[in-house]
Amino acid sequence: MADIRSLPGFREFYPEDRAIQNHLFTVWRQACRRYGFREWESPVLEPLELFTEKSGEEIVKQLFNFEDKGGRQVSLRPEMTPSLARMVGARANGMPKPIRWFSIGENFRYEKPQKGRLRSFYQLNADLLGEASATADAELIALCADCLLGFGLTQKDFSIRISDRQLWFKFLESEKVPTEKITAVLGVVDKLERSSPGDLLEAMKAVLTGSDCDAPKLLASVKAFAAIRSLNELEAIAQKDAAMAARLVEWKQLLDSIKALGFAECVSIDLTIVRGLAYYTGFVFEAFEVGAEARALAGGGRYDTLVKKLGGPDLPAAGFGMGDVTVRDLLESKNLLPKYSDGPNFYVMILGDDARNVALEDIAALRRAGFRVEYNLRDGKFPKLIQSAETIGAQYALVYGSEEVAKGITKVRSLTDRTEATIPRTDIIPALRAVLEEGMRAILP
Ligand code: HAM
Repeated sequence: MADIRSLPGFREFYPEDRAIQNHLFTVWRQACRRYGFREWESPVLEPLELFTEKSGEEIVKQLFNFEDKGGRQVSLRPEMTPSLARMVGARANGMPKPIRWFSIGENFRYEKPQKGRLRSFYQLNADLLGEASATADAELIALCADCLLGFGLTQKDFSIRISDRQLWFKFLESEKVPTEKITAVLGVVDKLERSSPGDLLEAMKAVLTGSDCDAPKLLASVKAFAAIRSLNELEAIAQKDAAMAARLVEWKQLLDSIKALGFAECVSIDLTIVRGLAYYTGFVFEAFEVGAEARALAGGGRYDTLVKKLGGPDLPAAGFGMGDVTVRDLLESKNLLPKYSDGPNFYVMILGDDARNVALEDIAALRRAGFRVEYNLRDGKFPKLIQSAETIGAQYALVYGSEEVAKGITKVRSLTDRTEATIPRTDIIPALRAVLEEGMRAILP
């Protein structure tokens, strides 16, 4: 048989990896529930046009798409936002607003596998629809921060960098960039931190071909604008432009709400963030580890026109996605992943076939009572069985030999400190419940 490996960029989750992943999902789910979000899910396979029309060029190059056996053009989902916009749009009129929804699901992008980037990854999505004001953006940014704080990270470990595509539009309009060129200029802004000055100038010239704008001059003012890191600096620039000044009222509302919710230390202003996805229309943000070059932990923003474009009503919306790959890397580096322990509470050691059926009856009763219980499916000797109990990470061993069965007792042995005590089998459930709560002292003579 040939050595058939899993595909590049796809992970296999052995139980210890799956336990870590469950931990991530639990923290995400708990945070979302605290904010009143309800869980939803969409198909993993969707019509190709859902993404070619709505996600923007970068993602389209990364689609896992194919023709299905019925001749349909389909794609695995690279993200969940277009599906969400379609689903909410279909029922929006009957839904109480605002709509707070979250989902945790697998997404697929044909990217070059590298640190922090895989071809299959899991993403938390949290979206708030039906509220156009910055109070909704603030709520999402607070939730994003709380999802990270829930892992034991602190405000010093990450920063949520906030920017604004609407402000960029107004700024570029004030710089006389023709409206139809603005999205392409934002594509150059997206590369500011990653490309050389020469490449940036070439890109700017290419984008501005056919317009009257001077590429070197525009590049210089774009760089100066992108370097802004405070509301005061923004206000100074906006003084010269009424449209920008009006937008800053919403910035103040956003920052004030974030501060009042207690997350001011988790955020910063960073206008180099413009986001690659095509549908964003307002505030955008990305969360990064502080002081590291790593890929983003999360990203999102406002997309007020997407629901309507997908056939729904005119419904303002904003949200973010947080990936499991970079979050796990960060938690690993900070030693914040919990120890893997999903061994049973009790390992029942059945010594001899006379004891087996009596032991099985107790095992069934213990499981009905909610305990995690394993036992030896085959007869075995004491030392080997103790070793099995330790290897699987059981907390306690219960001994069922012919002597114990004859006396109507079982021996309980702690696998951490090796103390032992006997309990009557008639009393087994309350006695073992007490052992799990208080330790061996609950039954030691
Ligand atoms: P995104 O920025 O493309 O946004 O992805 C959000 C997060 O998903 C990233 O910050 C990263 O943690 C993770 N991620 C993305 N691609 C990969 C990959 N190839 N490997 C590992 N992790 C990855 C969106 O997807 C938007 N739909 C988010 C959103 C929701 N906007 C509004 N609502």
